[in-house]
Parts: sequence; structure tokens; C-alpha cells
Amino acid sequence: MSESELDSFRARCVARVQATLDQLLPAPQIEPTRLHEAMRYSVMNGGKRIRPLLCYAAGEALGVAPALLDRPAAAVELIHAYSLIHDDLPAMDDDELRRGRPTCHKAFDEATAILAGDALQTLAFQTLAEATDLSAAARVSMVAALAQASGSRGMAGGQALDLAAEGKHLDRVMLEHIHIHKTGALIRSAVRLAILAEGPLDVEHAERLDRYAKCVGLAFQIQDDVLDVIAETAVTGKTRGRDQELDKSTYPSVVGLSEAKEMANNLLTDALTAVSVFPSRADPLRWVVESLLRRTA
Ligand code: IPE
Ligand code: IPE
Ligand code: MG
Ligand code: MG
Ligand code: MG
Repeated sequence: MSESELDSFRARCVARVQATLDQLLPAPQIEPTRLHEAMRYSVMNGGKRIRPLLCYAAGEALGVAPALLDRPAAAVELIHAYSLIHDDLPAMDDDELRRGRPTCHKAFDEATAILAGDALQTLAFQTLAEATDLSAAARVSMVAALAQASGSRGMAGGQALDLAAEGKHLDRVMLEHIHIHKTGALIRSAVRLAILAEGPLDVEHAERLDRYAKCVGLAFQIQDDVLDVIAETAVTGKTRGRDQELDKSTYPSVVGLSEAKEMANNLLTDALTAVSVFPSRADPLRWVVESLLRRTA
């Protein structure tokens, strides 16, 4: 695929997920208006949409029609948006800035932020359950995969370990375990949902896609840790240096900044290797990795 074809692929995916999210979220005028406003505030506010992109890119590699992935891609983004609202709460990372704007609990209030997170999470599962263009079997397996990735054995579990580790010095094994769960699991599920939409799939291809997603998921959180140290708030839209203030163990704090960068790059190279046997229709997956290699926010 040419550079301009890849650009238009990305723009199409972002437009698709924006439209789907806009349609799924209740209008802000509908009661309870404050809750619905908070949900929209935290979803329709310029996230990078990397998880939906990965879902569509995996679908492209497998030949799945993008329309079949609109709801799965939006469902993963809804879980992600919920996780960020809760991650920013005073009881968790106590952050004031998200995507360049006040965090949900600052713009509204804590109770509304908790409920907005709860409601976005349940909306994600409703979105999959009601994806009537997919078979019932595909929907059930997607609900199970997303639940597993989001719950105590996935994202929520990783968040619990991340909070418990504040003020402690972690070794690399534990740090990787936390990152794979708090961030990696949901990113991996974005690719998994595309695999599940496709139905029966050659096991080797499925394993390769899963390896790709696992590498991207871990690399993404390592980069997030690196950017917390080096990137300006004006670029990331998040409070710079928050990890150090909270005494979190991060890749830069445990292995040093330059090794952390190198580890992220090596994982992204491994991701490319995992999908190297795929033909040109996997170019969007390769392009996601290449854009992550150049990531600045
Ligand atoms: C930030 O995720 C938090 C992590 C899980 C690393 P993103 O960097 O994908 O955040 P948005 O959605 O673009 O704001
Ligand atoms: C976030 O990790 C992980 C989840 C939200 C699940 P961080 O706490 O590092 O994310 P940011 O840096 O606040 O976006
Ligand atoms: Mg956190
Ligand atoms: Mg945080
Ligand atoms: Mg971070």
C-alpha cells in the first residue's frame, strides 16, 4: 500500500469509530444529563484511537469488512475511555489533565466520573451484544474476550498491581507483568476481536496476529512511561512527571530511559516480524507499528 493509501485508511478508520461512538453515546440532553455529558466529554475528546485502528488494521489483514468491526472497535474504545476516567480519579493516579483538558472528575465531580466510567463499561458490552450484523456465536466470544481483557485477570488486575506497587521498587519481571495486564491486555483484545469476527482462522495466522498485538501492547505502555518523562504536557495533554510524583515503578525508573526506549523499539520490531508472512493487506498493521516507532504523544 502506498503512503497516501495508508493515510486514507487511517482517516477512514478514525471517522468510522467517531461516527459509531457518537451514535452509541446517549445525547447529552437525555436524562440524566450530567452523566451523559460526562460520558461524551470523556469519549469524544480527541483520543488517538489506537485500539480501534488496530482492530480495523487486523480486520484488513484478514479480509474482514470494516462495517463488521465498527461495534467491536468502538467497544474497545469505550472500555479504554472508562479506564482513563477511573485511572485519573483521586483514589488512583489523582490526575488533573487528560487529553489537554480537565479530567472527568475535575470537569464534573467524583461521583459523576465514577458513574460515567461504569456506564461506559456496560455500554461497551451492550454494543457487542447488539452487534446484529455478527453471528450470535461471534458476539458471545467477543463479549467473553473483552471481559477477560478488562477484568481482574486483565486491565483492572493490572491497575490493582500498579497501585499496590507505588513506593516500591519492582524488578523487570513484575513491571512487565503489570504493563502486560494494565495496558497490554486491552490492546491485545482489539486485535482478538477482529480475529473473532472472521470466524475459523488458520491457527498459525491467529497466533502471529496475537504475538503482534502482545508486542505492541507492551511497547505502548513502555512508550507511555518514557513520554511521561520526556514529552511536554502541551504535546501529550497529560501532566508531565506524574509517575515520578506518585513514585511509580516505570520502565525509565527501573531500566533507565535509553534502555526503555530500546526495549520499546525492539518489541515493535518483533511485532513487525510476527506479521512479516502476511501479504500487503497487512500493511496497515505495519504502518501502525511504524507510526509508533515515531511516536511523540
Ligand atoms: C493512555 O492511552 C493510557 C494508556 C493505557 C497507556 P492512550 O495513549 O491510547 O490515550 P488516548 O486515548 O490517545 O488519549
Ligand atoms: C494507564 O496507565 C493504564 C490504564 C488506564 C488502564 P497510566 O496511568 O500510565 O496512563 P496515563 O499516563 O495516566 O495516561
Ligand atoms: Mg495509572
Ligand atoms: Mg495515569
Ligand atoms: Mg502513563
